[in-house]
Amino acid sequence: MNMMDRKKRSGLRLSWGVSFFWCTLTILFVSGFTFSTLRLFFTEGFHPRLVSKWNIPAIEAISGESSVTPALTIRETVVFPDQVLVFLKYPPSTVLLTKDDINCIYLPPNSSEPQLQLSPVSIDVVEYQSHQIVRCPPQPRGTILSLAVKHNGKLKPGPTYRWDSLAYDALIDRDNSTIVFVKGLNLRSGRAADPSKFKCLYGWDLTKPKFVIGADVVSVAQEIVRCRTPLSVLNNSPQRFGLGSFNDSIKVSVRMVGRRALNSVARVKHQLAPKPLSRDKQHEMCVCTMLRNQARFLPEWIMYHSQIGVDRWFIYDNNSDDDIEHVVESLVGANYNVTRHVWPWIKSQEAGFAHCALQARDSCDWVGFIDVDEFFHLPSNLSLPGIVRNQSGPIEVAELRVPCHSFGPSGLQKLPTKGVMVGYTCRMAFPERHKSIVKPEALNSSLINVVHHFHLKSGFRHVNMNRSALVINHYKYQVWEVFKEKFYRRVATYVSDWQQERNVGSKDRAPGLGTKAVEPSNWSTRFCQVKDTRLRDRVLETFANPKTDLLPWEYQQSET
Ligand SMILES: *[C@@H]1O[C@H](CO)[C@@H](O)[C@H](O)[C@H]1NC(C)=O
Ligand SMILES: *[C@@H]1O[C@H](CO)[C@@H](O)[C@H](O)[C@H]1NC(C)=O
Ligand SMILES: *[C@@H]1O[C@H](CO)[C@@H](O)[C@H](O)[C@H]1NC(C)=O
Ligand SMILES: *[C@@H]1O[C@H](CO)[C@@H](O)[C@H](O)[C@H]1NC(C)=O
Ligand SMILES: *[C@@H]1O[C@H](CO)[C@@H](O)[C@H](O)[C@H]1NC(C)=O
Ligand SMILES: *[C@@H]1O[C@H](CO)[C@@H](O)[C@H](O)[C@H]1NC(C)=O
Ligand SMILES: *[C@@H]1O[C@H](CO)[C@@H](O)[C@H](O)[C@H]1NC(C)=O
Ligand SMILES: *[C@@H]1O[C@H](CO)[C@@H](O)[C@H](O)[C@H]1NC(C)=O
Ligand SMILES: *[C@@H]1O[C@H](CO)[C@@H](O)[C@H](O)[C@H]1NC(C)=O
Ligand SMILES: *[C@@H]1O[C@H](CO)[C@@H](O)[C@H](O)[C@H]1NC(C)=O
Repeated sequence: MNMMDRKKRSGLRLSWGVSFFWCTLTILFVSGFTFSTLRLFFTEGFHPRLVSKWNIPAIEAISGESSVTPALTIRETVVFPDQVLVFLKYPPSTVLLTKDDINCIYLPPNSSEPQLQLSPVSIDVVEYQSHQIVRCPPQPRGTILSLAVKHNGKLKPGPTYRWDSLAYDALIDRDNSTIVFVKGLNLRSGRAADPSKFKCLYGWDLTKPKFVIGADVVSVAQEIVRCRTPLSVLNNSPQRFGLGSFNDSIKVSVRMVGRRALNSVARVKHQLAPKPLSRDKQHEMCVCTMLRNQARFLPEWIMYHSQIGVDRWFIYDNNSDDDIEHVVESLVGANYNVTRHVWPWIKSQEAGFAHCALQARDSCDWVGFIDVDEFFHLPSNLSLPGIVRNQSGPIEVAELRVPCHSFGPSGLQKLPTKGVMVGYTCRMAFPERHKSIVKPEALNSSLINVVHHFHLKSGFRHVNMNRSALVINHYKYQVWEVFKEKFYRRVATYVSDWQQERNVGSKDRAPGLGTKAVEPSNWSTRFCQVKDTRLRDRVLETFANPKTDLLPWEYQQSET
């Protein structure tokens, strides 16, 4: 079917508020909007068509399907502390809306007349699902959030859930079990719980018990539940679940015996590939990271790690709004294999790492879990793959624990133009903690990971790296301008909430700063016990252009 046919047949089908939408629309949009060509970034495997001008209808009816099939729907809404995520569901091969096409509208109860309308904070396409996430500013108390599509109308509000009690993602593993990512079970850290105390539930609409199938839990730990997937789900036999209101994947949720099931936005859609027959993976060394608004550090971090042997990067993006799409795009354009994965879930770093390890398992022998201010340093001049390859012994090594040296502001007052590795050269004398490089094939099926260490299958072990062979330079205390952003995040962010007390006195906090982000007078000279210029020297020697002295990421920065 070509675009023109689709356009001719297109029309708006909304069962809600049709009678008043024309007048509201006039009020809402009569002043007109300017539509710039927005470039959206799409992750691997999803290539929808784009609209750059509003004159192409964005809402289209699907022909030949049930008359209740809406063209574009709000699937659900999840309320976070500082924003509300609205999940939009598109019919196949429809044009996607851009930020300029949508308004967040806040409706009083029993009214379809918006009390308030605001532009979305951002809009994202979600990989392997024909949907978008629209991030809206938080709702005033007592209002219902919905979306208005410019020149078309209002959408029917979706069911609304809290983020902290929710099944939010699901994958089907190689052994056909479903891995469900959940918030709100409040289990103990680092321990497997008794699976017989839980049940999994599958169905299109989990509020309709008649069409819900229960299933046993295989394992449950922290915030990850592994379910025995019912055959009817695997064989995709929708009759068993009653007819969904529109064609969509089945949802999965979890309940503790004797309790209500968690709400769910987790759809059983993405199936991980079977174990490859060959032992050879496409990449020897990959990296998973989670970040928010740190795009400007990516070029240096990726170019450097590429030089020491990393060849694949998975970036889990926690609601960035710093144009990271374009930074990633330009790195991809320069032939770095980098993908960005939307991971809006808050206080779920452990779950995100487990998710990333599963994504990386098919193509990566080893995966390092580091932040974008952390750089592997090889004082011995070996390569990273050289080190991981050398780990053979009677018991197979599947995790390398790499010590981290914390660097201070090193006397700097301003952002170092040559990047962090050249700029910061003074550090604390002793390593503060470890980060891990793991073999994803050897992860224990519980996927437990605590403080960056995964539990391994029995028969595998970890080794502690000697810091004269491999160490991490952690540019932890950068110039105040950078540190203060991180400081705000640190206090509430990168720590998990299911065991708050674990993080009291965490080394992630800057000693002596309490909870106030005011620059201490001697900030630039703090955290400086040992001069360490080894990585700086190596970087200048390896990367500096002999004619101009410029480093590749300096070009990158001046271009953007
Ligand atoms: C909204 O409508 C429902 C029934 O449709 C009614 O029970 C409820 O009291 C109404 N709420 C308000 C605030 O008018
Ligand atoms: C997974 O389920 C599919 C569909 O039922 C089946 O063909 C396949 O053999 C199953 N795989 C395993 C490992 O059980
Ligand atoms: C949903 O759509 C897919 C293709 O888009 C199709 O394979 C599947 O059979 C449909 N399911 C139902 C229940 O209509
Ligand atoms: C990037 O790596 C993935 C596997 O992780 C692979 O499927 C893909 O083809 C690679 N892309 C490029 C451009 O090499
Ligand atoms: C993501 O960012 C939010 C701030 O919007 C923060 O509250 C949350 O903890 C972060 N999540 C992770 C996993 O770091
Ligand atoms: C590593 O290489 C650098 C420069 O090539 C050299 O100065 C240094 O001594 C080497 N280190 C070791 C341990 O070989
Ligand atoms: C490999 O390991 C052995 C013993 O642990 C060590 O002597 C050797 O230097 C290592 N070689 C490399 C390339 O890491
Ligand atoms: C995973 O770890 C548990 C202990 O936490 C252990 O009992 C189990 O055997 C391990 N699984 C595998 C596949 O080794
Ligand atoms: C680490 O390596 C250095 C230099 O090779 C050596 O002197 C030191 O004893 C090693 N430390 C440990 C704990 O193996
Ligand atoms: C910086 O000031 C703090 C408190 O005023 C003091 O405890 C600390 O020793 C000073 N650090 C340096 C490196 O001067």
